[in-house]
Amino acid sequence: MESGPIHIIFVCLGNICRSPLAASVFRRQVARAGLSDSFRIDSAGISDYHVGEPPDPRMTETAGRHGVALTGRARQVRELDLLDADYVIAMDRENRVDILALMADAGSHVRLLRAWDPDAAGEPDVPDPYYGGAEGFEQVFEMVERSCRALLHEIREERGL
Ligand code: 4NP
Repeated sequence: MESGPIHIIFVCLGNICRSPLAASVFRRQVARAGLSDSFRIDSAGISDYHVGEPPDPRMTETAGRHGVALTGRARQVRELDLLDADYVIAMDRENRVDILALMADAGSHVRLLRAWDPDAAGEPDVPDPYYGGAEGFEQVFEMVERSCRALLHEIREERGL
């Protein structure tokens, strides 16, 4: 097995709502498990629409109510980010198609976050909350938290952590 921290990157369209949230939520869960040194947790966007911007204030507000601080600035994903990662986690099917187009090969480790959502009921996507109302952000928070919890559980089992 490779040495060094496990590298996980969450990817959405703009890197201002879903993927920064997922990175911060996952980071908190990892910290609570005492495993911060074992992970490198990152996020990026497919598009360059919001490069350099902080997370969307609506997502920041929702996360803040749950005690999660969103950090960082939006950046666009590059092929190297993807090739370097042990786990590439896309928020929706469109993101996944776009990621696979960026990667010449090694696409098999690109997964959808909601594959781990115990309450997904067959819905594969974390919906894009950008054009919707406040309740959309809350729902996104809840599904991201559930999914990340199960993802971390699986990685811990896989890696014996
Ligand atoms: P995200 O949300 O992909 O979760 O960061 C979006 C942010 C911006 C846009 C779309 C989705 N946009 O079209 O500008």
